[in-house]
Formats: sequence, C-alpha cells, structure tokens
Amino acid sequence: GTVVLAYSGGLDTSCILVWLKEEGYDVITYLANIGQVEDFDAAKKKAESLGAKKVFIEDLRAEFVEEFIWPSVQASAIYEDRYLLGTSVARPCIARRQIQIARQEGAQYVSHGATGKGNDQIRFELTCYALYPEVQVTPWSMDANLMHISHAPADLYLMTKSPEDAPNSPDVLEIEFKKGVPIKVTHVKEGKSKDTPLDIFSYLNEMGGRHGVGRIDIVENRFIGMKSRGIYETPGGTILYHAHLDIETFTMDREVRRIKQGLGVKFAEMLYNGFWYSPECEFVRHCIDKSQESVEGKVQLSVFKGQVYILGRESPKSLYNEELVSMDVQGDYDPCDASGFIKINAVRLREHHRLQGEHHSK
Ligand code: ARG
Ligand code: SIN
Repeated sequence: GTVVLAYSGGLDTSCILVWLKEEGYDVITYLANIGQVEDFDAAKKKAESLGAKKVFIEDLRAEFVEEFIWPSVQASAIYEDRYLLGTSVARPCIARRQIQIARQEGAQYVSHGATGKGNDQIRFELTCYALYPEVQVTPWSMDANLMHISHAPADLYLMTKSPEDAPNSPDVLEIEFKKGVPIKVTHVKEGKSKDTPLDIFSYLNEMGGRHGVGRIDIVENRFIGMKSRGIYETPGGTILYHAHLDIETFTMDREVRRIKQGLGVKFAEMLYNGFWYSPECEFVRHCIDKSQESVEGKVQLSVFKGQVYILGRESPKSLYNEELVSMDVQGDYDPCDASGFIKINAVRLREHHRLQGEHHSK
C-alpha cells in the first residue's frame, strides 16, 4: 500500500519514514509550509535519501491565513480565556492538504508524527476521517520525548523579543477591517501598508514580535483530560484579537454580540478539540460569519513593551451616537421612564433581601 506521511524533516518523522518502508509501504512524504522556519530543500533531500517515493512540499501559508486564521479572528477564538489556538488552527489546514494528496495519489493510508497523548493526534486524525472516511491512519506514538526539553523561557522564545529589550518608542498602526477581517494595515508614521492576508498577518507578526507582544505561559486542559503547560507566542494574532474586538463592539448590536460571544467560546472548544470539520462547527462558523457583516472600519493602535494599546476607531457602520449618550440631548429617553425601569428591576432584588432576612430569623 501507499502511505502519505506528514513529514517534518525532524528525527521523529524520519524514523517513521524508515519504519514504514521496512514494513513494506510505499511512502510519499508531505511537508506543509505554514510559515514555520524550516529548510525545505534540506528536508526534501533528506526524505529522498531515506527512500521516499515522492516528496510534496506545499506552501499553504495564504490559505492558512484566509481560511483558518481569519475565521478565528472573526470568532475572537480563545481557549480557556488565554490561548489563541495557534497550533490547533493549523492542524485541519495541514491535514486537509494531506488528504487531497492521498486521494490524488491513490493512497489508502496516512501517517503523522503526533504523539499518542496529545491534542494534535486527535486533530489530525479527526480531520482525516472527516474528509476521507475510508482512510486508514497508521498508528505511531512516540511520546518518550514529548516534554523532554526544558528551556529557560529566555532561549525558548522565537517570534518575540522580550518586552525589556523592545524599543523604547511604540509603533502606531492602523488596521482596516471589512466583514470582521483585516483588509489593510498601515504603519502610521512610515506610511507603508500591506493589503493581502498573508502580508498583513506577517507584518503584524513582525510588529508584535519587535515589541514583545503575545507571550503567554499557561497550564491548559487537553481534550483527553490532563493538564499541560504551554508557552506560546502569538504576536500578530494578539494584535488582531484586540483590534477586532474593538471594531466589533463598535459596530455590532448588543444582543447579537452576546450570542456571538457564546458561539465564539464554543468555536474555540471545537477548534481545540479537533472538530473543525464537523456539522456543529460548520454551523457555528456560518453564524459567526453572518455576525460579521457590518464589522468594518479602522482601528488605530500602538504596540509597545509587550502591550497593544487601542487609540481610536472609526466606522461607517458605527452604532455609537455621542449625542444620545450625552446628558443634554433627550432623544427618546425620558427620565421619568428611567425611574419605572429601575423600580421594576429592583422588585427581584428587594424580594431577595427580604427573604434572606426572613430565613435568617428562622
Ligand atoms: N497545547 C497546545 C495545543 O494543544 C499546543 C500544542 C503544541 N503541539 C505540540 N505537539 N507540541 O494546541
Ligand atoms: C500534542 O497535542 O501533541 C501536545 C499537546 C500539548 O502539549 O498540550
């Protein structure tokens, strides 16, 4: 049989390649470029020298940003209030292409190097089964070295500078959104701008990285029920999270936003647990997409010493009416109505207090 192996060029997947060959499989290796720092040519040569029948190197960066990161930005997807799901969101993108290759090459098997104890295995395999129900996933678990590296955080970080070493003056950016996704980012002082999804995201990574934005050190709950420690850097994603939230709140109806916020929490869980390709996730993505129709406008912000500071926003779809909020313009707002509104809301509170007193005296 033929197997398509998600290959990284590293030790684990090189061992799998050799092992699969020894087991009698024809091995096609597949390496996805999703923006990681990697010598793709060297990996290709290595796979060939280890006996791969065919080598695919696929540049998925643009589709990764447009089809996976952008929906996550729209959803304000965040797992357990802190993790922006940088790993989780890449898995369905990588596995989708792997399945396309398997179908195209007539391979019945796929393989990967994710350990048997983590989330990544679940994400890979659920995507594979969802998109290619007859596929067989060749099991391989190498968790011996899953957590064997214990770096001091200072040498671990790759994408971001430490805020201490970041520049002493901020970079001020303007991000323009349409339908809840960024369509342009401009460096206000330098006047230069980016306007393709990949360029925008890469530029925000660079800006955030320079200023030490988006570092977290957390303990999170894996799908399978154990807690694990994670140290993540998400510079561009963190800037977008804050900017999007700002323009969304500015342009979205309050009650729609409440529902959408709940859906975003569900979406993050589905994404984390590997259910991107599921009926429930499709449904939620559709609703979130609908909620973003009027989320447009420009957000000005600065990045400085590890932080994102929102400076202002403007939008043709703004729901903010300065006059209505102010004390001197009445609009439809009658202060007499306010006392009734407050009294009715107080019914429950008064009753609660009264009953508490009664129960205490018993
Ligand atoms: N804990 C994060 C997640 O589950 C990051 C996992 C990183 N993956 C890895 N194999 N080290 O999404
Ligand atoms: C993995 O999914 O393989 C690792 C998960 C984790 O470290 O949380």
